[in-house]
Amino acid sequence: MGVILPSINTSPRRIVFLVIAIVVGVHYLLTVVFKDYGPAIAVPSLTQLGGQLGFSQFLENNTTSDTPDLSPGSVSPLLSSMNRNTSDTHDYQRANATFVLLCRNTDLAGVVTSIQQMEDRFNRKHRYPWVLLNEEPFTQEFKDRVRVLTDAPIEFGLIPPEHWFQPEWIDEEKATKGRSNMMAQGIIYAGSVPYRNMCRFNSGFFFKHELLQPYRYYWRVEPEVKFFCDINDDPFKFMQENNKTYGFTISLVEWEATIPSLWSTVKEFIVEYPEYITPGNSMDFLSDNSGDTYNLCHYWSNFEIADMDFWRGEAYQKFFDFLESKGGFYYERWGDAPVHSIAVSLFASRDQVHFFSDIGYRHDSFQHCPSGEEWVKGRCACDPHESFDYVFNSCLPKYDALYW
Ligand SMILES: *[C@@H]1O[C@H](CO)[C@@H](O)[C@H](O)[C@H]1NC(C)=O
Ligand SMILES: *[C@@H]1O[C@H](CO)[C@@H](O)[C@H](O)[C@H]1NC(C)=O
Ligand SMILES: *[C@@H]1O[C@H](CO)[C@@H](O)[C@H](O)[C@H]1NC(C)=O
Ligand SMILES: *[C@@H]1O[C@H](CO)[C@@H](O)[C@H](O)[C@H]1NC(C)=O
Ligand SMILES: *[C@@H]1O[C@H](CO)[C@@H](O)[C@H](O)[C@H]1NC(C)=O
Repeated sequence: MGVILPSINTSPRRIVFLVIAIVVGVHYLLTVVFKDYGPAIAVPSLTQLGGQLGFSQFLENNTTSDTPDLSPGSVSPLLSSMNRNTSDTHDYQRANATFVLLCRNTDLAGVVTSIQQMEDRFNRKHRYPWVLLNEEPFTQEFKDRVRVLTDAPIEFGLIPPEHWFQPEWIDEEKATKGRSNMMAQGIIYAGSVPYRNMCRFNSGFFFKHELLQPYRYYWRVEPEVKFFCDINDDPFKFMQENNKTYGFTISLVEWEATIPSLWSTVKEFIVEYPEYITPGNSMDFLSDNSGDTYNLCHYWSNFEIADMDFWRGEAYQKFFDFLESKGGFYYERWGDAPVHSIAVSLFASRDQVHFFSDIGYRHDSFQHCPSGEEWVKGRCACDPHESFDYVFNSCLPKYDALYW
């Protein structure tokens, strides 16, 4: 036996594959070897050949990857996909709004997944800016890893120490006692001062940061949250066009031991400043007896789409100063969620609070998953049966009842 020739089996299938192999080889030769002569040689694409030969069903569905345009002057598919076409967003009239994300350098992995999802599900189309805030300077690595995720403007801000740390006038002995008392009750973050700094910052200071001054509406995003659905309508524009103050996706009851004296403080405030209580408010969301006791309902503030001018306004400023003067952010563990929720429920009208039922969202073990048409339209990656909306400890029924 001399030279081994490939045995030519003449079944139609073999022939088809042989033709494909020859076409691929010729295609490769023409495009690679003669690429300098690009315009002079019309190289039929595999798809066209396949179509002509009647075996297009064997080919991948029309993707452009098998027909790289190698003619001189054209950019490679890779480069052109990097050269993102943003002209569709150029003319988009954005609302006066930004994302805000409070985090630390150590949160990098969770920040990346949160921003990636927001970009994929919503912001790629709109390019709303991002403002990231940290009590320490962001590292170069952090900034590089986050910047690559979006074309939208991103700013990295440092929180002024006076907006973050426990004020001098807080009685540290009393604060320490408060913390150990709470630890004895097994309450989450009971012993943490940084957690309290964060709650106080989110209650009274974030909207004062210089990087947020140019904006009115914000969407608060946290590290390691999930956005399950395409967000087809622009929630910022919805807020602006409908004069909304506060938007939420999850509401629930607070752990009472973290806020033992909050409601009595609120009641004091109401007596002292009755002029700030808005007609048509949602006291009934907070209290089942017209304000005598707090039912612990609040909007879960790790997700918020809201109006910073409301926090900057007179009513909320007076309210925050009043709470701050009691020291409850440190002597107890007042959270920004009940603080924001109480303020919105009392100083805004119920028509200005909005449930974003179409936004699928998860933080820790709680999630809101849309259902029905919203679930379909949003291509939601969550089980519509797993939603916190109407389970025990959800306050959504109380919210619904406001509008009956
Ligand atoms: C190919 O593309 C057509 C048109 O977009 C689509 O209807 C079809 O389902 C695709 N087929 C496959 C196998 O992806
Ligand atoms: C596939 O591409 C061919 C040639 O570009 C085109 O004529 C045909 O309509 C395309 N088919 C689909 C399903 O997109
Ligand atoms: C960018 O997209 C717009 C609309 O989507 C289109 O009209 C325009 O031709 C595109 N520009 C480039 C350079 O691809
Ligand atoms: C956006 O809102 C902020 C806060 O209300 C305001 O200072 C700023 O002028 C607004 N910007 C525009 C372009 O309207
Ligand atoms: C928007 O809400 C404010 C109260 O926050 C109210 O004073 C104002 O009249 C409202 N504007 C419109 C256009 O409804």
